[in-house]
Amino acid sequence: MIIRGPVVSLLAMPEILHVVGARPNFMKMAPVHRALGAHAGVTSRILHTGQHYDRLMSDVFFEDLQLPAPDVSLGVGSGSHAEQTAGIMIGFERHVLAERPDFVVVYGDVNSTVAAALVCAKFGIRLAHVEAGLRSFDRTMPEEINRLVTDALADLLLVTEPSGRRNLEREGVAPAKIVETGNCMIDSLAGLLARMGADGRRPREGRGLVLVTLHRPSNVDDPARLATLASFLEALARDREVLFPVHPRTRKELAASATGDRLAQAVTLVEPLRYRDFVARMLEAALIVTDSGGVQEESAYLGVPCLTLRTTTERPITVDAGTNVLEPNAVGGLLQQARQLIAGHYPPAGQNPVLLRAKWDGKAGVRVAEALVGAA
Ligand code: UD1
Repeated sequence: MIIRGPVVSLLAMPEILHVVGARPNFMKMAPVHRALGAHAGVTSRILHTGQHYDRLMSDVFFEDLQLPAPDVSLGVGSGSHAEQTAGIMIGFERHVLAERPDFVVVYGDVNSTVAAALVCAKFGIRLAHVEAGLRSFDRTMPEEINRLVTDALADLLLVTEPSGRRNLEREGVAPAKIVETGNCMIDSLAGLLARMGADGRRPREGRGLVLVTLHRPSNVDDPARLATLASFLEALARDREVLFPVHPRTRKELAASATGDRLAQAVTLVEPLRYRDFVARMLEAALIVTDSGGVQEESAYLGVPCLTLRTTTERPITVDAGTNVLEPNAVGGLLQQARQLIAGHYPPAGQNPVLLRAKWDGKAGVRVAEALVGAA
């Protein structure tokens, strides 16, 4: 009896390769990697491009997320967008030609994401995109270009919120390729809260610090804009402690201008915090001021108000959830907006109905793993 076909497919061990490179990728990948571990016969390996390489931007996240060290490190480092993207493509192409994974999973919208997507498309290696479909509709953001290109090339598009499906369908993506999985970054956050024994309750109104993160080129690369934002933070610091863990990109810009010295007088400037320390500070915050995508989502889940220093967001669910407000257009409106947000009331961690409807329930990694194994 000839049983060759079925035997071959039974023996086949699909290899799934996760490509990560920058800080926010690690929180999204950890739950998927963990959930794949429960699927017998699936090999799941991690490739780190090295886009982020400082210990505080990379290694400590692997520790806090209880992730194994990467199986492959490309060590590409910094450079212009073209240099960084091309460097990742060259290193990644060598790797996939030698190893030929069955499925590559990319996360979010960073240069590592789009670089790996381009290589996979050229070699016919199937590609899954976790956090597909988000759109700010602002093509001056490098991340928006990375999202558009990656989604155009992906075979499996795993979306975190309803806007993701809407955007993809409008762009002509076949509905069968789209899976609503919930948000893997929230799985990592919920897992960490459980390990910390945190109940996720906000400090009493009137107390609590203001936690700040800023790193978008549109906010930190222009000295005039950076000076305006520094004045806003100084004004906030008259009422309460302002804690600002400074991203390397922002640190460079602050060091190159007088704004850095001025800001250091009023605000507590510290190195980037490791994941568990940042989450602990979010829990103590009366307000978060940020331009990060992930922090908009984490604050929404935690029920901490967030003032986003951008006029667009690719994560409209955080606005619908009631915690996130975008920058007002009027000059001088920032301080008023911040005070209103601090005075507001928000659902406690994990209980926002808008987020629960979108499956932000700590089980997104399991859903992503099932979708991958089903498609592999
Ligand atoms: C990148 C992502 C952004 C994400 C952010 C999270 C892109 C286009 N941007 O922005 O979407 O929100 O990561 O942090 O992929 N640097 C260090 N040490 C490091 C990493 C970077 O000193 O470990 C310096 C580099 O020299 C570079 C600057 O920081 O000059 C920016 O790094 P880069 O990875 O190019 O972009 P980010 O601004 O971090």
